[in-house]
Amino acid sequence: MSAIADPVAKALAPSGPFCLDDADAYRRWRERKLRDYPRAVDELVVEVRDPRNLSRGEQTALSERCRRANMAVYALISPTDDKKIPRLLGRRFGLEQLDANWLADDDGISSIEVNGGQPRSEFIPYTDRPISWHTDGYYNALERRVRSLILHCVRPAFEGGENALLDHEIAYLLLRDQNPEHVRALCAPDVMTIPARCDERGVARAEQAGAVFSVDPLSGRLHMRYTARTRSICWRTDAATRAAVACLESILSNSPFVLRTRLAPGMGLLCANVLHNRSGFVDAPQAPRLMYRARYHDELQFC
Ligand SMILES: [Fe+2]
Repeated sequence: MSAIADPVAKALAPSGPFCLDDADAYRRWRERKLRDYPRAVDELVVEVRDPRNLSRGEQTALSERCRRANMAVYALISPTDDKKIPRLLGRRFGLEQLDANWLADDDGISSIEVNGGQPRSEFIPYTDRPISWHTDGYYNALERRVRSLILHCVRPAFEGGENALLDHEIAYLLLRDQNPEHVRALCAPDVMTIPARCDERGVARAEQAGAVFSVDPLSGRLHMRYTARTRSICWRTDAATRAAVACLESILSNSPFVLRTRLAPGMGLLCANVLHNRSGFVDAPQAPRLMYRARYHDELQFC
């Protein structure tokens, strides 16, 4: 298809691997991506001795994982519940601007636990129920998109609470390999609409329409906005969108590229808001699961 006849792809990216017209760039990027992508989550793990003073070697090792898979897992040799740690680590990767949503703590970082009290307990992250595949902040306005995420484990659940992870670039690649029209459908600027959230005072968050895939015009990086939830979401109803969404669901349920981890105390996920889910869990009453979650508007910077 000619560049001129392809307004959606041009709106997405004028050239490069995420442009449907640029087959050469895509082929080169695809080869490298498949060659480098980790086959097991262990390949993502980097031991960190002092998170307040990351060594050059540790930073390089974390960057290398992020370059390969848009994510890395740090494992502190001495686990800590110090809430400043994810903030300090994030800064080493260019992460400053927190997306302090209304459920976050005063420091802009969320303490994800079951006993979060009202109104948090009405929202699924603050329960022990499974959370389906998503990227964080899929309901945010475009100018407040969540580009990066840190999830720091203070205490795991007694049982369950695993995360499945999939680099959103791999999801893009698998969709495009199946059928480039799937990508085209998911790039439409109104493909996925999240209805407004209302409370007793009226509209708390406005309706938000947007694309699943978009490319940052400055950095050229791919961004993904997605939720597998079936309530409170409206997909475009055309056949191309339905086929693309079904293909993505199939990838998420079957792909050998999905990595699984259960973060232990002092471990944390540092990522470019990759696709993830969470299994349900059972807490030990005296030591309930506790994760610190920091969401950022900045892109992850690798050294
Ligand atoms: Fe999440």
